[in-house]
Amino acid sequence: MKIAVLKERRPGEKRVAATPETVKKFIALSCDVTVESGAGQASHISDSAFEEAGASIAISTTEALKEADVVLKVARPMSGADAEDEVAGLTKNTVLISALQALTEKDTVDALAKQGVTAFAMELMPRISRAQSMDILSSQSNLSGYKAVIDAAATFGRAMPMMMTAAGTIAPARVLVFGAGVAGLQAIATAKRLGAVVMATDVRFAAKEQVESLGGKFIVVDEEAMKAAETEGGYAKEMSDEFKQKQAEAVRAEVAKADIVITTALIPGRLAPMLIAADVVAEMKAGSIIVDLAVESGGNVEGSKLDETIMTSNGVTIIGHANMPARLARDSSALYSRNLYNFLSPMIDKESGNLSIDWDDEVVTGTLVTKGGEVVHPRLTGEGGTS
Ligand code: NAI
Repeated sequence: MKIAVLKERRPGEKRVAATPETVKKFIALSCDVTVESGAGQASHISDSAFEEAGASIAISTTEALKEADVVLKVARPMSGADAEDEVAGLTKNTVLISALQALTEKDTVDALAKQGVTAFAMELMPRISRAQSMDILSSQSNLSGYKAVIDAAATFGRAMPMMMTAAGTIAPARVLVFGAGVAGLQAIATAKRLGAVVMATDVRFAAKEQVESLGGKFIVVDEEAMKAAETEGGYAKEMSDEFKQKQAEAVRAEVAKADIVITTALIPGRLAPMLIAADVVAEMKAGSIIVDLAVESGGNVEGSKLDETIMTSNGVTIIGHANMPARLARDSSALYSRNLYNFLSPMIDKESGNLSIDWDDEVVTGTLVTKGGEVVHPRLTGEGGTS
């Protein structure tokens, strides 16, 4: 079986879907691995490092894809109206394993179905214990949460920890985190490590204990509503307008006092909830920093702009970096590649090195979006609920 690893072509995508470590592991399972030349460059992995691990290097995408059974990618392949058409190079014999944003990017899913590709959307991985090592949302969000705090601290014109010096004491920074999922918890842990005073809020009551175990203070909005806010899959539900109003009031004073605000609130398959209105930003102190990690899903902060850093008239910096994991490309590539290896390796017959997919396996049915020319995922065909 031949595995092809393509060079990412979306602007700003620095990650790569395999590393020399995972290449070696696939080869140990009797697979051939071809890496498109330059695929690892932006993650500081050279063609020769891949070659040393046993991969062959292809000079072009076409050559990499020649007779490929499985294609590994990071970003949703481009198609139709995009600058290039990556889907066109795939065939009905291709198994594509990638992040696809399948719930919101219908055109990509339709293009893959039309092409006959068997496509797995890694972001739809069920949140069961067995699949934790395959969970790209967790591995990438964790790094995003860390990097959001580091970016904020680098922009902040003050120190993070309390410092007692001969010249006097510096107060610790106050950090407020919205959304205590994977990214938010890492942001809390990182800010604590840097010595900040940390507060957080979430709609899921279960997050309270996790925030407190990291030394953060949890802001409770409405305990009863928060206990009902979690889906079976562990995600947040869309909250009522009444709850949103209560939440806005509960956090308003804390936002005004905060030096750094990190927002990470997401609802799968929907626009991110708007949590900080412009009039609340207007009450913040000059020099405060907001990092909106939800900016790619519409944003949690009024005024945040995708891939821009802006300064409001009252001196608040709002950072809206796109693709935060790509800002730590070496580590995010390493973890993403391991997620893909952990997903694909059980599907490889150890003797022959051929694909042998168990179509009834929960991790397969949970992520398979197109097969045999059809869109097959229940959440896309209207047969499945939320997870
Ligand atoms: P996410 O990225 O979808 O959302 C981030 C956070 O925003 C979540 O904690 C969510 O509750 C929160 N949020 C949504 N709307 C909000 C609002 N209006 N105000 C404030 N916060 C809001 O979620 P993520 O980080 O992917 O994790 C969701 C859950 O799944 C967590 O409980 C996490 O521990 C769990 N999980 C389970 C795994 C497993 O069992 N395999 C693996 C990874 C995460």
